[in-house]
Amino acid sequence: MKIQKVGVVGCGLMGHGIVQIAAQGGCQVIALETEQSFLDKGLSRIDGSVKKLASKLVEKGKQSEEQAAAMVETTLANITGTTNRADLADCDLIVEAIVENLEAKTSLFAELGKLCKPETIFASNTSSFPIGEMAEASGRPSRFVGLHFFNPVQLMRLVEVVRTENTDEEVFNAARDFGTACGKTAVSCKDTPGFVVNRLLVPFMVQSLLMLERGDASREDIDAAMQLGCGHPMGPLTLTDYVGLDTTLYILQGWKERYPDEAAFEVPKILETMVAEGKLGRKSGEGFYKWDGDKKA
Ligand code: CAA
Ligand code: NAD
Repeated sequence: MKIQKVGVVGCGLMGHGIVQIAAQGGCQVIALETEQSFLDKGLSRIDGSVKKLASKLVEKGKQSEEQAAAMVETTLANITGTTNRADLADCDLIVEAIVENLEAKTSLFAELGKLCKPETIFASNTSSFPIGEMAEASGRPSRFVGLHFFNPVQLMRLVEVVRTENTDEEVFNAARDFGTACGKTAVSCKDTPGFVVNRLLVPFMVQSLLMLERGDASREDIDAAMQLGCGHPMGPLTLTDYVGLDTTLYILQGWKERYPDEAAFEVPKILETMVAEGKLGRKSGEGFYKWDGDKKA
């Protein structure tokens, strides 16, 4: 089962990156958004990112200028944008990367289940919700996996491939091979909260927020401590800005509702307050830090 035509639902922070790596990996990709302006924003980020990656390859002597230009041209030519769900009907694989809201995801998959050819494999990039519940809603639980990519998708080298009790072996293998074709190392995980990475990472981010809330240390010192003391590429507060405070809050709220006694899933007050104030991190220009586009101001 070879995946050649891929639909990506949502062209935001994660979706645009998934569109790009699938296109770089040689797939025909259809990017679906709710509005043309969101689609245009995602496609323009892809344009900037693929050109940046190409210029780095030339700089490092890994590709000639001609090879890099061809890579950019082929990648962009592999991508089509749409705001019409029906355009996804004959995809071999659909990867969902919409807002972290279970109701939005299950209703999307219920509709895609009716719309798409019977062979289409469905995947969710959810950070925290049970894959099994979306699989049930889709009406084709054996053809459903989690494909959890990391932010920024173009640079992070991992994908978690999540199987439920109902996932067909052939479907799991095809999804894992797709991740590999996108240039990622695939690890496999059962359908457990947060899979491998977020089960470890999100409670760590929570502790850094609680530390800031208590006034134990400044934001700069918390970040510097983990960067210089543990060799992390960015500190946990910068990382929360990077992920999005809204997405982090939705992850924790979902877990708190399902697992009220799990102390690791505490929702810090500071996170609720900042999201209510519209401070969503890098995407809104302000979170724990101020951002100028993709860089800290
Ligand atoms: N496409 C192309 N190029 C990009 C890019 C993108 N999307 N993002 C950054 N770059 C480029 C930058 O422009 C920069 O280029 P220059 O050197 O020419 O300026 C270069 O890559 C390096 O980027 P930075 O200057 O920002 O610096 P960095 O060395 O710190 O690398 C990083 C960035 C790879 C993101 C690194 O900081 C890192 O690994 N951070 C941790 C990220 C992480 O933990 N991600 C997981 C989040 S959790 C998650 O994803 C799961 C979930 O469900 C919430
Ligand atoms: P985002 O808000 O940047 O992007 C979501 C996009 O989906 C928006 O552009 C929105 O317009 C679009 N959208 C919403 N409903 C839609 C629909 N029905 N049809 C088409 N498009 C729709 O969010 P994000 O950070 O890219 O997160 C997307 C998913 O990826 C979430 O499930 C999140 O938990 C997961 N995730 C996020 C990160 C991260 O670091 N932000 C990392 C890994 C996984």
